[in-house]
Amino acid sequence: MPTNILVIGASGQIGTELTLKLRELHGNAAVIASDIREGSEELMSSGPFEIANAMDFDAIEKLVGHYNIEVVYLMAAMLSATGEKVPMKAWALNMDSLFNVLNLAKDKKIKKVFWPSSIAVFGPSTPKEQTPQTTVMEPTTVYGISKQTGERWCSYYHKKYGVDVRSIRYPGIISYKTLPGGGTTDYAVEIFHEAMQNGKYTSFLSEETELPMMFMDDAIKATIDIMDAPSEAIKVRSSYNLSAMSFTPKILAEEVKRHLPEFEMNYEPDFRQDIADTWPSSIDDAEARADWNWSHNFNISELTDAMFTGIKSQLVSK
Ligand code: SER
Repeated sequence: MPTNILVIGASGQIGTELTLKLRELHGNAAVIASDIREGSEELMSSGPFEIANAMDFDAIEKLVGHYNIEVVYLMAAMLSATGEKVPMKAWALNMDSLFNVLNLAKDKKIKKVFWPSSIAVFGPSTPKEQTPQTTVMEPTTVYGISKQTGERWCSYYHKKYGVDVRSIRYPGIISYKTLPGGGTTDYAVEIFHEAMQNGKYTSFLSEETELPMMFMDDAIKATIDIMDAPSEAIKVRSSYNLSAMSFTPKILAEEVKRHLPEFEMNYEPDFRQDIADTWPSSIDDAEARADWNWSHNFNISELTDAMFTGIKSQLVSK
């Protein structure tokens, strides 16, 4: 019997590609995608898909029972920029969905949980360079507060109830299959689409704003690696720092110009600049590398090449 897996938030930026990868690894029928809205054609047609609200405990419990789910990846969340516009909604979604899944694990209805945290758990009082695994955390966004609180609850459920929950603090994730929604790092995805379609882009972050970033394939690899590691290897039960590269909008614009020499970049920082200013510029992920052998494959040039190739093939097939 294959292990049945449920991905909640499967229509989102990371959920889409995670579901497709898990289906490749475990078979299409064993990976149930769910979201409050429909996803891409590839996601919807490649295996089971169920509309469900991550905040609705009964709906999630029903799915778990119906499909004999053992492992849940909870990818539903409201991100940093959108969260600032509707703080109470962001808090409710991010916390209720987590408690729903943690409580199913506590009651032994599921065996293993993945829940993503974020660099947003850090704040202005955190050391900015090579931010350590364990450090000052005073997040200023509702998204960051929900992720920091979520980390404490993951750790609590592990210690108190033996729940096997695993988590990583994603940096900004760059991908072409599904657009990100409402994040502070989204400029690093928008730039590619705008460059290829219009030859120019206006960044909402200033040219020198350096943030930790990662190509989607590495984020998926990290997610699957941490879930495949033996339980005793996972020593951090709040969430692991995770890093691949850091760059500024200016450096990324230079990379885009390698492909499109005429590309024009402008800067009009908005409210998202204030969020970015509170986040680390680089992350020390030595513990993830030591505990479960994390390593990344993509640097900024490889990421840029992969984005150009990916978006080009999408534009051709449209
Ligand atoms: N990419 C996320 C955001 O910008 C950070 O986790 O909100």
